[in-house]
Amino acid sequence: ASRSFSHLPLNTERPSFGIAFDIDGVVLRGRVPIGGSPQALRRLYGDSGALKVPFLFLTNGGGIPESRRAIELSKLLGVHILPSQVVHGHSPFKTLLKRFENELIIATGKGEPALVMSEYGFKKVLSLAEYASYFEDIDPVSQYKMWTTKLESSNGSDPKNLIPRYNVTSDRVKAAFVVSDPVDWGRDIQVLCDILRSGGLPGHKNAQQLPLYFAADDLEYQAAFPSERLGMGTFRIALESVFNRIHCNPLEYVSFGKPNPFVFKNAEVILRQLQSSSNDNGDVGSNLFKTIYMIGDNPLVDIKGARQAGHPWFSILTRTGVFRGKDNHAEFPADLVVDTVEEAVDYILKEES
Ligand code: G3P
Ligand code: MG
Repeated sequence: ASRSFSHLPLNTERPSFGIAFDIDGVVLRGRVPIGGSPQALRRLYGDSGALKVPFLFLTNGGGIPESRRAIELSKLLGVHILPSQVVHGHSPFKTLLKRFENELIIATGKGEPALVMSEYGFKKVLSLAEYASYFEDIDPVSQYKMWTTKLESSNGSDPKNLIPRYNVTSDRVKAAFVVSDPVDWGRDIQVLCDILRSGGLPGHKNAQQLPLYFAADDLEYQAAFPSERLGMGTFRIALESVFNRIHCNPLEYVSFGKPNPFVFKNAEVILRQLQSSSNDNGDVGSNLFKTIYMIGDNPLVDIKGARQAGHPWFSILTRTGVFRGKDNHAEFPADLVVDTVEEAVDYILKEES
């Protein structure tokens, strides 16, 4: 009898391969499935709905908890995705929990960055939007911003009614996290410079910069617009350029996400858990993968990462996103170039049959 993983038991016959799918530009463009992704993913499940091939999504995007993204992806793609099958750029922020669990930290980006961090276990998280709302005039052009911002705070949506959850004038911020693509670059650059160069107390001076973490460093990515959009890496460049001109020491930061080798190592561990969840003894790592396929659209991120990770990674580049070339990418050539994700899955299943 096989032990089931959640309610989606894997077939007892465990394949010695797994697949990591990039999301933006491979599986989706904005919220629209592309490249035959729903059909391709369906082929990874058996008739009973059991997962036949261990796979996960390895994206540099994010902004909502992985559990919520799994529900969203399930709806958009028509297959049942488990939270453990979603790895966001910010997912490895969990590894910093020990260091900052009870410290005041700031999280910014689209979606619900503070909720993401709270779900990882960080106890004192404020979104940059909420934090900024406690400082009158911190953003001198805010009155010219005609859009309305909905704060994530449980204190209510009108900043004037907000009761600070922490004493922001004496409680030092200990770290700042860029969880997802920032929405209001001007405000975020201003407030991050304030926090970083004041030692966590805006308005003060302190040469010692506090730690800054980015979920990813993508310069461009494929969204719904026909040509690539500016990614988190370009926000990092903007912040860094400004900070380095107004502060005595250059900006120090750490970027997570692909192409970092640890992202691929971690993906391998998750795939092995998915694979071995059908073992009677639940042994993780008893079956090493012969091949793990990375299907991506960005040579500098997905393909570079898979190439650096080495064995057992095999990189497949699609033409549905950042890369549109006829031949392979010159600097980071993939092991295989195809038009769509459907073609990639077709190749894999033939190769592994
Ligand atoms: O903001 C998302 C983008 O940076 C990349 O997403 O799925 O192509 O890794 P993805
Ligand atoms: Mg992509």
